[in-house]
Amino acid sequence: MGTLMGRMLLGEIAVKTEELTRVFRLRKREAREGRREILALDRVNLEVCWGELFGLLGPNGAGKTTLIKILATLLAPTSGRAWVAGADVVENPAEVRRHINMVCGGETSGYGLLTVEENLWMFAQFYGIPSREARRRIRELLSLVGMADRASTKVYHLSSGMRQKMNIVRGFLTDPKILFLDEPTLGLDVQTARTIRDFVRQWLLDHPDRTILLTTHYMHEADELCQRVAIIDRGRILACAPPAELKKALQRDVVFRLYVEGIADAKNLLDGMKGVRALAQHMEEGRLSVDLILSEEEALVSVLSRLHAAGARLAELKKEEPTLEDVFLSLVGRKLSEESP
Ligand SMILES: Nc1ncnc2c1ncn2[C@@H]1O[C@H](COP(=O)(O)OP(=O)(O)OP(=O)(O)O)[C@@H](O)[C@H]1O
Ligand SMILES: [Mg+2]
Repeated sequence: MGTLMGRMLLGEIAVKTEELTRVFRLRKREAREGRREILALDRVNLEVCWGELFGLLGPNGAGKTTLIKILATLLAPTSGRAWVAGADVVENPAEVRRHINMVCGGETSGYGLLTVEENLWMFAQFYGIPSREARRRIRELLSLVGMADRASTKVYHLSSGMRQKMNIVRGFLTDPKILFLDEPTLGLDVQTARTIRDFVRQWLLDHPDRTILLTTHYMHEADELCQRVAIIDRGRILACAPPAELKKALQRDVVFRLYVEGIADAKNLLDGMKGVRALAQHMEEGRLSVDLILSEEEALVSVLSRLHAAGARLAELKKEEPTLEDVFLSLVGRKLSEESP
């Protein structure tokens, strides 16, 4: 069976979208730059396989949450279609919901007056998990995220990192076939973020038939965690492949980092030059740091002479292995960490 329904029934595909589009219509007084329509998703086509840890990587406003919300049946698409666990999200949302759970980073869920365990237990009851089984899972999951000693702490008294770990536990508690994690490590310290990433990875190793779709705007998170990554910007998927492949595609190009003194802007000087594929810059300790993607190494000579002619002094020059950040830069024309223009 080569058809889509065939492949879904055969159990290859957990999530699929076809030309999925979402437009937000704004009220007159909400208009942005004179526009009253925001194209949050622009004909998105995606397939996520069962057992996959799939990442959606993109800057603020790229459309990540919009996509997750549609898949979780919390938001309707404007056009196009989406299927989750074989069910159409618009035609059969109840069936979709049976198979999924969702956690958003930074959400303040839970009842502050109840303890961590009471909150999680209550949530498990909503999902009809037998009480004893719920207690077993709660204890197990809390200890896996290093919060076993917090079971009796009131949610009021949790730090934001602990609260986020509790939310993550809530996501896994129902043992969903497909779990949507929207920015699971948003704003967390390095150690807490690592605990959560290790936990997510281990959970999938222990449950190889489960599927996780996560969003992030942390490059290294997508790189380290995800089997495949879709790069999304302004509602469009620009690339979709395993991180290593994305980086390999860039290896034909050469990535240089230069530090120059004496000028404040290299972008205007170098943009559009032959061999210059993309460029990003920022000031760093009084020097201008320039990330440069060249389609051929030879272009470096003319780049350096143009910089020199403009009065710049080269302080440092390094050739780099491409990172996902460079992949993003070459696709989008700016770095992920930069604000959308
Ligand atoms: N309810 C809404 N009404 C109007 N515009 C919206 C609404 N929700 C999202 N948008 C707009 O749609 C676009 C995509 O937003 P979305 O929240 O999906 O981005 P995101 O990739 O999740 O960003 P972030 O990294 O900041 O969470 C943005 O321009 C956003 O302002
Ligand atoms: Mg978001």
